[in-house]
Amino acid sequence: MSGLSSTSTTTPGNSKIPIPVLGFGVYQIPADKCIAACKAALETGYRQIDTAQLYRNEEQVGAAIRQSGIKRSDVFVTTKQGLRGDTPGDTYRLAADSVKRIAGDRADAYVDLFLVHIPWIRGEAEGRKEVWQALERLFHEGKARSIGVSNYSIHHIEEMKEYATIWPPHVNQIELHPWSQQRGVVAFCERQGIALQAYSPLAEGTKMNDIVLRRIGDKYAKTPAQVLVRYGLQKGWVVLPKSENPHRIGENYNVFDFEIDEQTMEELDKLDKTETPDEV
Ligand code: A2P
Repeated sequence: MSGLSSTSTTTPGNSKIPIPVLGFGVYQIPADKCIAACKAALETGYRQIDTAQLYRNEEQVGAAIRQSGIKRSDVFVTTKQGLRGDTPGDTYRLAADSVKRIAGDRADAYVDLFLVHIPWIRGEAEGRKEVWQALERLFHEGKARSIGVSNYSIHHIEEMKEYATIWPPHVNQIELHPWSQQRGVVAFCERQGIALQAYSPLAEGTKMNDIVLRRIGDKYAKTPAQVLVRYGLQKGWVVLPKSENPHRIGENYNVFDFEIDEQTMEELDKLDKTETPDEV
């Protein structure tokens, strides 16, 4: 077996903060359902929750963690910011407000990971720089224990060298599953020690009837979703499946008792629909 277990973590090259390899995504979970979904995930055993300002459920993520009775330090929480304010000070305050929404306004409140959500920020390069600098400030203040980016291409990460005092970023969170392997940016991040987080690891639920995936599921007596989560884990990615349904939340976690063999991994690799840029 690959040695992966529910307590496995990965630590980015440029950071000391371990990230659990499996996390719970709350994209599109409405605020009124988010507390119950997060509590179900925490009861199942997930110790990572991935939210964002844009999801409008940061407060509920924080409330669920407090209500669960699990120690704050035992749960890894990520949020993201894709907007800048009118001034650098406003941009920083937007980020600091996220920490408050999730973790309260005590001086020692923190999130474990804070990401620049998208590269397409108002003002382009100037906007990316401004949000990153706000995150660096949070990092130095201890309010974000690690910082990274999301949806960044190689050139966006390279561009950061012009202004970042922390480089490489600890994480790049991108869409990763067999049909979206993004091999160019993945290889670049691996070389740089940037941890890869996989969002939409279930291809947003759109491939559950795929014939190859179903056959592989049958072979291991696992569901298509479990094969997809396990595939991402074996790729070395931090995998963030989203579900509102307690049964499926449990199903997506139950992936540590089987291993996809090499030949079958290659079969899944062949499903890729993304281009492989020359820079691999
Ligand atoms: P639901 O929230 O009703 O469970 P991704 O993580 O790739 O973004 O995929 C999320 C989508 O996949 C959601 O529509 C979610 O629906 C669905 N989903 C989550 N877990 C499973 C599962 N185990 N089997 C089938 N669909 C799932």
